[in-house]
Amino acid sequence: MADNPIPFSRRADDFVTRVEQALGQHLGEPGQHPSRLHEALHYAVFNGGKRLRPLLVYATGEALSIPPDRLDAPACAVELIHCYSLVHDDLPAMDDDDLRRGRPTLHLAYDEALAILAGDALQALAFEILGSDPTLDQPPSARAGVIAELASACGVDGMAGGQALDLAYEGRQPDIDELETMYRQKTGALIRAAVLMPCSLNTEPDEMTCRELATFADCIGLAFQIRDDVLDVEGETATIGKTQGADQARNKATWPSLIGVEASNRRVDELADRARACLEHIDHDTAALAWLATRMVNREF
Ligand code: IPE
Ligand code: IPE
Ligand code: MG
Ligand code: MG
Ligand code: MG
Repeated sequence: MADNPIPFSRRADDFVTRVEQALGQHLGEPGQHPSRLHEALHYAVFNGGKRLRPLLVYATGEALSIPPDRLDAPACAVELIHCYSLVHDDLPAMDDDDLRRGRPTLHLAYDEALAILAGDALQALAFEILGSDPTLDQPPSARAGVIAELASACGVDGMAGGQALDLAYEGRQPDIDELETMYRQKTGALIRAAVLMPCSLNTEPDEMTCRELATFADCIGLAFQIRDDVLDVEGETATIGKTQGADQARNKATWPSLIGVEASNRRVDELADRARACLEHIDHDTAALAWLATRMVNREF
């Protein structure tokens, strides 16, 4: 809840454990029939992800005084969509990557068909959870709002659309506005949904707060993807858990490829400042969000 005397930084690991336990319950035993698909789902989800999007859900809940047990469903759902997006993103038809979270990508550990099906099943499970979780009925409009928020973040104006643009821009030099739109869709949309789903659960919706939170999330989402691109240039494979230099090898249009690493870092800092300014306009305890924003944009992996 808000005003917890223990800082969020010291409770973040507990939230990671919490969402991982909930995810484990939803996924069930990996040995279930059809066992290869069940195993692949576990492989896609339980592999050292940072769980930043669930943390955003819980941190937003702290600002809005929504207790964590009303946030487990959105936290699980957004992480499942994210895991699915990574499995499909790594496929040969997309980024054709061989390393994810420090292990062989799912299509290499299993096969391409399993990777496609695992992504499909993770996406379906996310919406099954939101459709059936009993805690999402208050206020009465909450469930529909949460589902609509996540669905639009996944779709043609969100992650899927952004991924299509990302592929279309390979080997090309889009202008910075086109690149920004692509980033806002492929990565920013899910981060925005992680913040706006709790807003839909607010029994006393406060439009101004939700508007500031949306702008906060947009800034963090964009900064997060630019930081990801910088890490692809400057990080080390062993630390980032992905093959360093993969973007350049595929001729990806990225922020560093367009304006260089230094200017990209400056943009990340500007966006982080703008995000923090949004939080200052919010008349609630946003300490958790402020800490998480810094962690997301300063990350080393
Ligand atoms: C990686 O996201 C994909 C991007 C959108 C840049 P994360 O860095 O959150 O990946 P995990 O979940 O921790 O592996
Ligand atoms: C990821 O962008 C966006 C997704 C929707 C998965 P990237 O292609 O840069 O992510 P990584 O570097 O493979 O994690
Ligand atoms: Mg990609
Ligand atoms: Mg990729
Ligand atoms: Mg990347």
